[in-house]
Amino acid sequence: MKVEKVYCAYFSPTGSSKRLAEAVAGVFTAEYEQIDLTKMENRNKPYHLDKGAVLIASAPVYAGRVQAQAAEAFKRFSAPQCPVVLLAVYGNRHYEDALLEMADIFQSGGFVPAAAGAFVAEHSFSKAIAGGRPDQADIEKAGTFAQQAKEIIEQKDAYTCTLPGNRPYRDGMGKLPFHPETAESCVGCMRCAKRCPMQAIDTLDVKKIDGDKCIKCMACVKGCAVGAKYVDSEPFLTTVSRLESLCAARREPEFFFG
Ligand SMILES: Cc1cc2nc3c(=O)[nH]c(=O)nc-3n(C[C@H](O)[C@H](O)[C@H](O)COP(=O)(O)O)c2cc1C
Repeated sequence: MKVEKVYCAYFSPTGSSKRLAEAVAGVFTAEYEQIDLTKMENRNKPYHLDKGAVLIASAPVYAGRVQAQAAEAFKRFSAPQCPVVLLAVYGNRHYEDALLEMADIFQSGGFVPAAAGAFVAEHSFSKAIAGGRPDQADIEKAGTFAQQAKEIIEQKDAYTCTLPGNRPYRDGMGKLPFHPETAESCVGCMRCAKRCPMQAIDTLDVKKIDGDKCIKCMACVKGCAVGAKYVDSEPFLTTVSRLESLCAARREPEFFFG
């Protein structure tokens, strides 16, 4: 098909899913529109794509599934058999059912998965897990992946993308027994409140976080310019140390094509 327009939709609290989606979208040369689903106001709208459009959809993996808010937002996309390129971005542990779940969501909305990639990025919980990724090699691989996806979309009339994962999907993420705290060094700059995808940080007093709204994405912890947001509760530290030993070996991106 002739690609008329490329939409790049991502949910990305700590920026990796966005970076990888942009690396993929950059290979397509058509008119381009970004949809940042990290922003709450963008998540509740329906998005209908017209014939000739391609969607690049990217989200983090939480507990082996598509991050829940991203999944809900993706369910609001519809299209008349438009190709979708799927990116599941995970923290070097595993992505389990995330790509399959993403494909199912978009197929229900009328999309046809043309290609899918499981990409590795620094784990939201620890810089010691896949620290600094996606790195140069990952971005180059994303470009090669995008080139192949583009060729499939432009040259093939029909495709079926077979993806790993199981149905029913594994249980989603339960409620995690921690949320970020705020140190006295907080300067009240509001950066954390602006970055929080759940509006869980009180805009009148950014030291206050609503633990029920918080999805533990670490956008506030990683984004604080003075390092004032932190988590040091026992369940978190135990999880991090388990993950750091479990996920030490470098994993590489995996690609699937239709
Ligand atoms: C609550 C939570 C659960 C996560 N679960 C997984 C997981 O099951 N497997 C994995 O490899 N990484 C997991 N991660 C790591 C993220 O998938 C990874 O850091 C991703 O790059 C975050 O994307 P972003 O930078 O776009 O926010 C999890 C992160 C969080 C915050």
